[in-house]
Amino acid sequence: MLNFEYYCPTRVVFGKGAVARLPELIDKSQKILMIYGGGSIKKNGVYDQVKKALAGCDVLEFSGIEPNPKYETCMKAVDLIKKEKVDFLLAVGGGSVLDGTKFIAAAAKYEGNDPYDILTKGLAVKDAMPLGDVITLPATGSEMNFNAVISRLSTNEKLAFASEKVYPRFSIIDPCVTFSLPEKQTINGIVDTFVHTMELYCTYDVDTPLQDFWALGVLKTLIQEAPKVLKDPNDYNARANIFWCATCGLNYWMALGSVQDWATHGIGHELTAFYGIDHGQSLAVVLPRLLKNQKKVKQEKLAKMAREVFGVQSDDESVAADEAIEKTEAFFNSIGMKTKLSDYGINAGEAAEKIRARFAGRKTKLGEHEAIDADVSFDIVSAC
Ligand code: NZQ
Ligand code: ZN
Repeated sequence: MLNFEYYCPTRVVFGKGAVARLPELIDKSQKILMIYGGGSIKKNGVYDQVKKALAGCDVLEFSGIEPNPKYETCMKAVDLIKKEKVDFLLAVGGGSVLDGTKFIAAAAKYEGNDPYDILTKGLAVKDAMPLGDVITLPATGSEMNFNAVISRLSTNEKLAFASEKVYPRFSIIDPCVTFSLPEKQTINGIVDTFVHTMELYCTYDVDTPLQDFWALGVLKTLIQEAPKVLKDPNDYNARANIFWCATCGLNYWMALGSVQDWATHGIGHELTAFYGIDHGQSLAVVLPRLLKNQKKVKQEKLAKMAREVFGVQSDDESVAADEAIEKTEAFFNSIGMKTKLSDYGINAGEAAEKIRARFAGRKTKLGEHEAIDADVSFDIVSAC
């Protein structure tokens, strides 16, 4: 096991009726900016729950954060915060709303000329506004991590940053708020969680059996619970189990002292930036092809996954690894997730060329051995 340090200051409040706990979690004397997306919270009652919980507080609103939140939109919120002297940010929505809020929190305190530098230059965030969230979509794990992914319309870029300063002070997770999710978003979230787990687990072995079993436990739970939520979207326990998988899927417990990958996300973000496909869809397309391409270096963990998650009997490591990849794609397809670029009207050859050119320009090297460069990415995307 490698050395590690873990820090996560987020208070997680999980369960039925959790939104009503807001008044205990928030300083009611502060001026609060409630940030949300395109209106799902108004249809499913979450907006009313939050407003009720914050009755008597000084609350402003900023709506319109898009899926794959846009830098341009976030900067409008920063202007409002400066004008209105807001003290605290409350994100109410999916990972996009929360990621947007994390960026807004950092941008509002940024002292340089252009907060976009936080995304392009990898600058350490020195300060950020405090934030909390009511998370409404199980997928990103953003509710218990320090990442945010922001897109810029003018340049077709999708870039991430990470900073301890943007950890949510609290995250409220009421699985009931996910009853209203469109099936497509439920599926996207399951696949995103599956792929986070793979990016954290499926590298090379450094003798971390507990972390591995956490990861394999998340995968098994997703496979077990996914059909239940798809059959009955109001199945509380299945929704709760899926949400907790998503949160644990990217709070990094399963990666402590071990080695991470993130190449599927790196390539997937480009597919979203160029073609606008959903984050979950981009991952479902890339992961099986990336695993095939990188099978040699991932074989041991793939074979372990085949046996532990899919019950594969073969003693042959290579055969078992192949089965893990096939069964992963079959699982995605079984829940209604399509796994070829052509399913989304995208030409694989053209996408591969675009990504190769961009990665070559940035000198990108992805994967646990930094072996996935522009040319290897070209091969992977060509096969998608
Ligand atoms: O905008 P509204 O009207 O709220 O509707 C949203 C949106 O259209 C809707 N929705 C959310 N909760 C709902 C709901 N509809 C009905 N009932 C509910 N309870 O769902 C749509 C998608 O929402 P979005 O927030 O975009 O989805 P998700 O949570 O999957 O977030 C995706 C974004 O997170 C980034 C992705 O790249 C993408 O930009 N990621 C963030 C990560 C992180 N912070 O650690 C890691 C991930 O790998 C990922 O990259
Ligand atoms: Zn993801």
